[in-house]
Amino acid sequence: MTYRSVFVAIMVLGLSGCADIARWTRQYTYPPEFRYIERDTVRSTMRDLAVHARELNDLIRSSDGPQRPRDEIIMHLRAMEQAAEKLDQSGWPTNHPLIDMNLASFRRDINFAREAIERDRQTSCLSDQ
Ligand code: HEM
Repeated sequence: MTYRSVFVAIMVLGLSGCADIARWTRQYTYPPEFRYIERDTVRSTMRDLAVHARELNDLIRSSDGPQRPRDEIIMHLRAMEQAAEKLDQSGWPTNHPLIDMNLASFRRDINFAREAIERDRQTSCLSDQ
């Protein structure tokens, strides 16, 4: 490859944006069994988690009839499961040790909570009949 074509390649990559260059470079600098999670992805997931956690908190404290909060609680827990899933699609180690150490148990806990409320909802529906 001549200096000129290297220069042209750098200019083209530069024009397509720094984030794209970083993404392009990562495919050569990290092993394939490693997942780089961008900071924006972590932050937007955290924002989603925070929104749903706050809603859950309000619902759990609310004194409405029991059935409606249960449905909404299940909906928010599902949304949290989906948000967390976005961070962990491959199961490979990532550039966030905090995520590698805690995500699996976090997802498990949310899943247990949702299943418990779903069981509770079914039992209360049966006892109302
Ligand atoms: C209800 C649960 C959670 C809530 C409400 C929450 C909320 C947040 C918030 C508000 C931030 C700051 C984001 C920013 O800088 O804009 C943050 C950062 C972070 N959280 Fe969470 N989080 C939760 C669970 C978790 C879990 C389970 C993990 C790991 C498995 C995790 C990993 C991280 C990491 C790695 C950062 C740092 C992101 C950075 O580099 O700036 N969080 N979280």
